[in-house]
Amino acid sequence: MKFFIDTADIEEIRDLATTGMLDGVTTNPSLIAKSGRDFFEVLKDICAVVDGPVSAEVTALDAEGMIREGKTVAKLADNIVVKAPLTWDGLRACRALSSEGIKVNVTLCFSANQALLAAKAGATYISPFVGRLDDVNIDGMELIEDIRTIYDNYDLLQTEILVASIRSPNHVKDAALIGADVVTIPPSVLRQLADHPLTTKGLDAFMADWKKTGQKIPS
Ligand code: G3P
Repeated sequence: MKFFIDTADIEEIRDLATTGMLDGVTTNPSLIAKSGRDFFEVLKDICAVVDGPVSAEVTALDAEGMIREGKTVAKLADNIVVKAPLTWDGLRACRALSSEGIKVNVTLCFSANQALLAAKAGATYISPFVGRLDDVNIDGMELIEDIRTIYDNYDLLQTEILVASIRSPNHVKDAALIGADVVTIPPSVLRQLADHPLTTKGLDAFMADWKKTGQKIPS
């Protein structure tokens, strides 16, 4: 399973890239606004740090505008993936950009039929938002299961399931159990993945006992 990081904070990206766990980055207009930086500058910086796919979202609402913006954004770096919303215009733009070899991540997916449409439009990624479904008392992971089943039913549907709106380590585990292709994880949740109280407790005990031996491993 690939790990993308869901942020436009370049310091977080630089720091987490050193773990060797980052396979890509996703951004959206809200994350760009949160960064307080220029859209093009921040994306250029991210692409310089991360070799994997970097999603950059278009903001036009009509297909023609999305296609124009998508082509501009795609020129930023070889690893840019154009992100477009799951609307009919977004699907038209996805089809047009994909047919020119530009990778598209179709975002704001909340139903299995939407995911089916995105795959038929040639999307490289579909981004179902599990946390936002959970927020309205709909099981987000049930949607991931449905999309996995549908995509696996048809060899021609090659779109990767990119689980978004991840809110907790359990979302990551559940997505992996279902066989999602990618999770895009906020930095705070990514850091939590390595935490376990018994790991901390066990390490403290090992270190206390080691200190008693008075030994040191030369380095
Ligand atoms: O990148 C889109 C998605 O991950 C947003 O998450 O937490 O704002 O629902 P959230």
